[in-house]
Amino acid sequence: MSSYHVNESVKTCVRVFSEEGRSAYLRMDMNENPEGLPKEFVDSVLREITPEYLATYPEPGHFCRKYAARLGIKENQVCATSGSDTAIRYLMEAFVGKGNKVVTVTPTFEMYRVYCNMYGYEHVGVPYGSDFQIATEDILAAIDQRTDLVALLNPNNPIGRAFTEAEVRAVAEKAAKCGAVLVIDEAYHYFYPNTFIRLIDEFDNVAILRTFSKLFSLAGCRLGAVIASAQLIEYINHVRSSAEVNTVALLFGERLMDHPEIIDELIATEKEGRRYLISELERYGYTYYNQDGNFLFIEPKNDAAEVAKRLKEEHKVLIKTYGNPLLSRFIRISTGSKTAMSRFMEAFLIADQA
Ligand SMILES: Cc1ncc(COP(=O)(O)O)c(C=O)c1O
Repeated sequence: MSSYHVNESVKTCVRVFSEEGRSAYLRMDMNENPEGLPKEFVDSVLREITPEYLATYPEPGHFCRKYAARLGIKENQVCATSGSDTAIRYLMEAFVGKGNKVVTVTPTFEMYRVYCNMYGYEHVGVPYGSDFQIATEDILAAIDQRTDLVALLNPNNPIGRAFTEAEVRAVAEKAAKCGAVLVIDEAYHYFYPNTFIRLIDEFDNVAILRTFSKLFSLAGCRLGAVIASAQLIEYINHVRSSAEVNTVALLFGERLMDHPEIIDELIATEKEGRRYLISELERYGYTYYNQDGNFLFIEPKNDAAEVAKRLKEEHKVLIKTYGNPLLSRFIRISTGSKTAMSRFMEAFLIADQA
């Protein structure tokens, strides 16, 4: 018994945090860029950081203006957050009533369930079939008058194809009819080129999420964004903390906007690495699922958890495995440059020897 109050939902909230000490490994377990941004670019941004700059509270306006211009939206239709994880939290705080429902597919990015547990919302997970497919009708059927938020990840993480425009529109319309916000999480944008940003002018209940942790290779800085109608962004501003995004993250984000050629280079590097990995997997007769993000599911010949253990202990390579029966046969690996992929493949072929 504690001598202080703890919210019931906080007591029972189950959290699993990623392990520490990952820098000693080839990190292919969390969909980061294993190698990061070009060193010269990082050095040039770091040279701009003075003691005075660090001593000053962050001003997100510079970044937001440039980001909005690049996306072709108005400045008041975007707000920067400390990673898109925080954006999910703000959306839940602002738009879900106590005890009401949040609909997502399942499996999906873990934090949607975690925030539901934390705030005492009812999480409704619409399951994928064993063929990794999901029927939009099932998602539509799960949305009712008690639903306050629906989240579609496009593409989903860890499994699932991207949704079509007709599917997303059907979900946005049903959500609007039920008074719910539709979150379209585009964390894997750029690996998957389509976007539904255009829907924010048509649907005032649609919010798009973006992260700078994946293609932009800034997971350590914590930078994300919500893109939505000015009114919806205004409500998010009501729940955010006063100095939300750190000043280093904002500077890196702004400079990336100044250098679109780096973005093109990052896209090309990942594409080349992924193509190489797929050709190698086919050469060695592996079954794989090529998802639309910067990750891939591979079915090893040996037990997936055993292969992951060998990769970690004997080859210093981290990959992701799942307890979920739908996914327990597979390993998920983040894709990156051809150099990173060939290092993985070399280790994998040894770790998965029959
Ligand atoms: C679909 C999805 N959304 C959001 C996030 C959170 O990203 P971050 O908080 O680093 O911006 C992730 C991270 O893996 C993700 O896969």
